[in-house]
Amino acid sequence: MPLSKIAGIGYYVPANVFTNKDLEKYMDTNDEWIQERTGIKERRYADRLGETTTTMGVEAAKIAIERAGITPLDIDFIIFATICPDYYFPGCGVLLQRAMKMKEIGALDVRNQCSGFVYALSVADQFIRSGMYKNILVVGSEKHSFGLDFSTRGRNVSVIFGDGAGAVVLQPAAKEGQGILSTHLHSDGESAEILAMYNPGTHANHWLPEKLADFDDKEIGELFISHAMIDKAQLFPNMDGPAVFKKAVVKFPEVITEALMKNGLTPADLKMLIPHQANLRIAQFVQQKLKLNDDQVYNNIQKFGNTTAASIPIALCEAWEQGKIKEGDLVCLAAFGSGFTWASALIRW
Ligand code: UT7
Repeated sequence: MPLSKIAGIGYYVPANVFTNKDLEKYMDTNDEWIQERTGIKERRYADRLGETTTTMGVEAAKIAIERAGITPLDIDFIIFATICPDYYFPGCGVLLQRAMKMKEIGALDVRNQCSGFVYALSVADQFIRSGMYKNILVVGSEKHSFGLDFSTRGRNVSVIFGDGAGAVVLQPAAKEGQGILSTHLHSDGESAEILAMYNPGTHANHWLPEKLADFDDKEIGELFISHAMIDKAQLFPNMDGPAVFKKAVVKFPEVITEALMKNGLTPADLKMLIPHQANLRIAQFVQQKLKLNDDQVYNNIQKFGNTTAASIPIALCEAWEQGKIKEGDLVCLAAFGSGFTWASALIRW
């Protein structure tokens, strides 16, 4: 049974650069704090009205499809990973299918936050290996800038995130031993609420921390979205950053080691580790822990911030475009984020 390989890859980031200094206009923060704690210098923000998560995904997909030497009509399945969908439903997969005038193929949306792209890749890999599909488009795209709290209250979250999209086309590999060697998926829902956007949702406020649960207007229809939620800024993401950080620095090395061990390989065999771009300090910690040298780890969070499901395909594409990944190289993708969910994929390029 052939492995699946990445036959084409592309990324798209909006033209609008938003620096740390720009954020100072909206909230009590500063360039020094952001760079020291996260490594981020700037990020891109989508055109507020002209671009959506889907349109950015389409731009990345066009490049990936062209580089794979096929057309949108050859795609036989779409997997779209995002936490910033254009609509609550339907998902971005069908919107991309429409925008790219594809055939009436299957379209699946994946909601796995920072590990969304690796999860999506893993699902696509299984469909290729089983022989069910021949050309799968996997997209990770996020328009975070539309849903962040740009007041000082939301600064621990808002300064981190950026917008962008990445896409790959997966096909059966022609060469023996080439392609995705294995994928490894994990979750632990115990701490689901420490990095989460609670509203709008169907939880009806039962489990929320007290400060979020003090609704005075529990009229029918007002638990999903209410004026109180808006007044209390409860429609934004929440994060206990230090708690996420502590878990991330354990789970990243664990899931990378798992992938290497499964294939009888060691960190020294890696040409390139592409970690999800959550925080430069996390990536540096992982690098040290695995004793990788600087040119074995690719980081671009400095330019783009954390683009959640898009961060890995954007970084992978940049590294490949810069000639840092060549045929035969061993590449590891690894992600950790909200859920918690974490995942890795080991690829013989
Ligand atoms: O990809 C999704 C997964 N997410 C992650 O992996 C995030 C992991 N966590 C982190 O990256 C870090 O925890 C952060 C970058 C979010 C925060 O860095 P930290 O070193 O953990 O800072 P902290 O949250 O402990 O906050 C330290 C101080 C606090 O002030 P006090 O209480 O010490 O007076 C915060 O209020 O920094 C303050 N602070 C800020 N100050 C300036 C928080 N955000 C900001 C800000 N600008 N943007």
